[in-house]
Amino acid sequence: MPVCGIVAYVGHQEAWPIILEGLRRLEYRGYDSAGIAVVDSSGEIQFRKTVGKVGGLDTSDPADSLATPAFLQGSVGLGHTRWATHGRPSDANAHPHTDCHGRIAVVHNGIVENFLELKTSLQEKGHQFYSETDTEVITHLLEEGMELGLSFEDAFRHMGKQIRGSQAITATQEGHGGKICAMRLGHAGGIVIAHRDGQGIVGSDLPALLPLFRHESTVNGVGFLESGQMAVVTREGATYWDLDGLPIEKETRTISPEDIIIDRGGYRHFMLKEIMEQPQAVASAMRERVNFQDGRVELPDMPLSIDEIRDLRRVVLIGCGTSLHAAQVGRHLIETLSGLPAEAESASEFRYRDPYIDDKTLVVSIGQSGETADTVAAMHLAQEKGARLVTICNAENSQAARLADYTLFMRAGIEIGVASTKTFLASLTTLNILAAYIGQARGAITPEAGKELVDYLARCPGLIGEMLADTEVYRRLAREFYTCSNFLFLGRGINAPIALEGALKLKEISYIHAEGFPAGEMKHGPIALIDRTMTTLALAPKDRMYDKVVNNIKEVKARDGVVLAVVTEGDTQLASQVDHVLYIPDAPENLIPLLTTVPLQLLAYHMAEMRGCDVDQPRNLAKSVTVE
Ligand code: AGP
Repeated sequence: MPVCGIVAYVGHQEAWPIILEGLRRLEYRGYDSAGIAVVDSSGEIQFRKTVGKVGGLDTSDPADSLATPAFLQGSVGLGHTRWATHGRPSDANAHPHTDCHGRIAVVHNGIVENFLELKTSLQEKGHQFYSETDTEVITHLLEEGMELGLSFEDAFRHMGKQIRGSQAITATQEGHGGKICAMRLGHAGGIVIAHRDGQGIVGSDLPALLPLFRHESTVNGVGFLESGQMAVVTREGATYWDLDGLPIEKETRTISPEDIIIDRGGYRHFMLKEIMEQPQAVASAMRERVNFQDGRVELPDMPLSIDEIRDLRRVVLIGCGTSLHAAQVGRHLIETLSGLPAEAESASEFRYRDPYIDDKTLVVSIGQSGETADTVAAMHLAQEKGARLVTICNAENSQAARLADYTLFMRAGIEIGVASTKTFLASLTTLNILAAYIGQARGAITPEAGKELVDYLARCPGLIGEMLADTEVYRRLAREFYTCSNFLFLGRGINAPIALEGALKLKEISYIHAEGFPAGEMKHGPIALIDRTMTTLALAPKDRMYDKVVNNIKEVKARDGVVLAVVTEGDTQLASQVDHVLYIPDAPENLIPLLTTVPLQLLAYHMAEMRGCDVDQPRNLAKSVTVE
């Protein structure tokens, strides 16, 4: 199974509303189906499931959607919101799953890699399967263990030793014991646990804890499971164990619920709110890292010494999706500001190569969640090979942050829209800072160049704010193009990754087919697509590649293509040669991507909205992809 959100509760309140609210807060992890199981007052487990979003679980009482349906009253339960990998979204495949007799309820995030062989052997022993999921083998393995006379937690531990793959599992059983067991194996998805005043809550992610701790200023004693650990949570407290049954002294953390509270702040969609928050995101990524007086960047807690930085031989940047595009921009920044050779690669490819990495390689991983399975696995590989590891991520307490030698937090604030926006700009800002820092340490950046970068960085929040002040122009263009079926995005140099990002943004939220290319690649194939029905968005700011992009635009126009160009203010010449223009302020080349991105986000947003798409939760996607 899936990326998925998990919530479980044991205490003295009704479990249903707490779990339901927790699931709503986790919907960014997946929304193909949802389900809740509660141990009722007679000790039996009752289930409610729905295909689609968590909202489908609501009771029929429109006045009180959190009112507990009579048959689901009880103070122990668990719930799940699913992102399907195998087994289509259906009631039967929705979690929680149960055993042959309905005595156990299990929710799961990850993949049981040996599920087919386990399923065959369990079926041979007479177990009845109800779904196509791999998760169901977990319930029957638990049942087997308990039939052998093991306690619930021992059966749970034993089950953990039989399954292969990366996963997070949470389970409860019938009866009046009030017990939740949770386990983490590998790196696909975390488990977080909090306990207070006779109540325990388990979640796949911190927002799951909010229903219980919303009114607290801090939550102490929050435990995060590591791979190969399990927890047993009862009204009395949470205990932690390894898979050999040995107790673990869990180091816990203190969390502020304010850090994870989320609301749309009056905007129609989180995505629009997050686009509008970009000036603050960029400013906050610079806070205490940029010395505007001296024109220098400062990373006081950087663990690599100046000598170690001087000794570096290359930088490898990794990420997935939007974060990969940030890595590709980062490659240009590292090359131009630090003088080191740099490469950018998809983490999902990197992790399965045998990349040449040594202790003179700096690996920089980028990811808003810090939980993307491929990125985390690639970081492990880099670490095994002796690389120094820096991560740029937005989530404190994430796996990436815990793994890296050094974390540069994006500080963009929580991002809920599945399409990454403000975290992309925060990554680009942070990458500029990191590249300049390495450049300073290596003497590759002159004080004048450093000062120019810092001066413009300081202006960026304001410039982005000006671009966001009037979004009517994007809305007008979106109205013109939202019925298109195809789009090409072109850019060169540091803007080639922005073309890829523009195409990704459009396709993921509007479902319009969009491709991004380095513009120089056009004549090697994609130009065959050009005719009067094809719209090309070309990034043509005033930078080193401007003349080249202008030539590429002419090639498109010569074949009757429609061209929408993003150009630098004052560029009236190109404006007269294309069908539509969008202007960005003038800026030095390394900062241009912070500006060219904004019109692409807004166009994608408005086009998706006009097409009636679910902008914040596009089909088939999830915010954190914790399976490979
Ligand atoms: C962004 O719009 C996407 N939804 C997606 O590509 C995302 O960037 C990717 O899954 C990586 O996530 P991360 O940044 O949390 O690692």
